[in-house]
Amino acid sequence: MELPLRLRQAVDRALNGRRPADLAATAAALSQRYREERRDGRLHVASDEDALAYLAVRLPATYAAVRASFAAIKQARPDFAPKTALDIGAGPGTALWAAADCWPDLADALLVEASPVFRTCGEALAREASVPHIAWRIVDVAADTIDCPPRDLVTLAYALNELAPEVRQPVLRRLWQATADTLVIVEPGTPAGWQRIVAARAQLIEAGAPVLAPCPHAHACPLEPPDWCHFAERVARSRLHRLAKEAELPWEDEKFSYVAFSRTPSSTSAARVIARARKGSGRVTLKLCRDDGSAREQLFSRRDGTLFKRAWRSDWGSAL
Ligand SMILES: C[S@@+](CC[C@H](N)C(=O)[O-])C[C@H]1O[C@@H](n2cnc3c(N)ncnc32)[C@H](O)[C@@H]1O
Repeated sequence: MELPLRLRQAVDRALNGRRPADLAATAAALSQRYREERRDGRLHVASDEDALAYLAVRLPATYAAVRASFAAIKQARPDFAPKTALDIGAGPGTALWAAADCWPDLADALLVEASPVFRTCGEALAREASVPHIAWRIVDVAADTIDCPPRDLVTLAYALNELAPEVRQPVLRRLWQATADTLVIVEPGTPAGWQRIVAARAQLIEAGAPVLAPCPHAHACPLEPPDWCHFAERVARSRLHRLAKEAELPWEDEKFSYVAFSRTPSSTSAARVIARARKGSGRVTLKLCRDDGSAREQLFSRRDGTLFKRAWRSDWGSAL
């Protein structure tokens, strides 16, 4: 997956003239903080340099994860066309761009962010976005309420992990209250990220929120450690991205976990593919999470006819 052209151009302009070696040093320190999931009272992105390093090495990957989660929602709810959006922990506006790409009718977005540095950087990028009305607010969602009427689409992407465990439940409660239709939570596709998604999912189901994706059921998650539910999206790396990461490959795979809830009833799929498909001659094995709340591998062969054809076309993340 690539960033939309206008976002790519805006990022290139923001990074213009930056030395790859400087970006690489800042990006390495930033990645270390993210990997350690450090919560020391400081925001990870605290300076212009941090924000630029994020644009160079993280934005393409978080964009790809959010956009892929939105694609699954669109598949489950083809009729959903959000006009209003609220994004919490917006960073440089990643979810805004992904939402505008997925739902071109989006007309009004409110982006909530604790870091003034990120807001300035995101505002500059968002001048190129096609959404007619975009507003930013500097709010610490752990401490303050988000005072706005419910919005069609509410997102919390790669931000739950930055909130202290004791504030996550009240924040999620407020986000569901602020959701007119669909709430999407995306986290890194690590065992710890998945645990946060599992906890958020259980809390919101308990509060009566209907699960839209990826789970085809509202039973407890059937996976148990060391297994965990996650997906992967291949992300194109620009030259500067590669240099800033000191990487060789022109792509990387971003692993992510997500869950979406919708107030609008919809028919969920019978199963979700939760690992890469294993294909051989005339046969394909899919690991499926099923609508009865179980998860297991299933072999499809040519004898399964139409089902085999659908299974053959499926891959990790597909609804079946
Ligand atoms: C890893 S970034 C993700 C940015 C963006 N959502 C993305 O997916 O690229 C996490 C964001 O959450 C913001 N954040 C962390 N704690 C917050 C809080 N208490 N209130 C508001 N924003 C917060 C950070 O400043 C940062 O911009």
